[in-house]
Amino acid sequence: MTLTTIRKKIDRTLVTLRVNGIDRRVAVRPYDVLLDVLRETLNLTGTRRGCDMGTCGACTVLLDGKPTLSCLTLALEAEGRSITTVEAVAGGDGLHPLQQAWVDTGASQCGFCTPGFIMTALAFVEANDAPTEAQIREAISGNMCRCTGYVSILDAVARGAAEVARRRAEGAYRSPVEPSAARNGEA
Ligand code: FES
Ligand code: FES
Repeated sequence: MTLTTIRKKIDRTLVTLRVNGIDRRVAVRPYDVLLDVLRETLNLTGTRRGCDMGTCGACTVLLDGKPTLSCLTLALEAEGRSITTVEAVAGGDGLHPLQQAWVDTGASQCGFCTPGFIMTALAFVEANDAPTEAQIREAISGNMCRCTGYVSILDAVARGAAEVARRRAEGAYRSPVEPSAARNGEA
């Protein structure tokens, strides 16, 4: 019996994943990682598969608001938690300040790394109003970009943080981060 045949025989389990504020029922195998379920079952292909081994950050999503490598996270581990993907970042009123900063600074070239950077930076700027360059460097240290040399990315995160802080001060900021199920009182 081949490995593929054995895998097909492994039962799938129905779980509910809360993705971008919507409960999604999916059938997953014990070894399915969140990245595969997002991209291949839920067709949320904004989350990228880079190295597939936890070193590039391209697959970063927010799990209960924290940057998490979806290539190293079992889908079963995400049950009952809130998942935010890059598809939820732009709102009805346009690009998120971070996304606009990416555009304005040219921080995307091929763009492959951008969704992962945006998700990492989103959690960071929502927790840091006026970060130093050293803090930004530390925050994005788990994300790799082969094109930009990082200078424009550092600039984009700083600009995004400043704009988020400004909107917050005016009471005009809408966070795209799905609150954790625990904070919602749902788990
Ligand atoms: S694809 Fe997950 S860290 Fe590279
Ligand atoms: S823009 Fe190409 S890998 Fe970052």
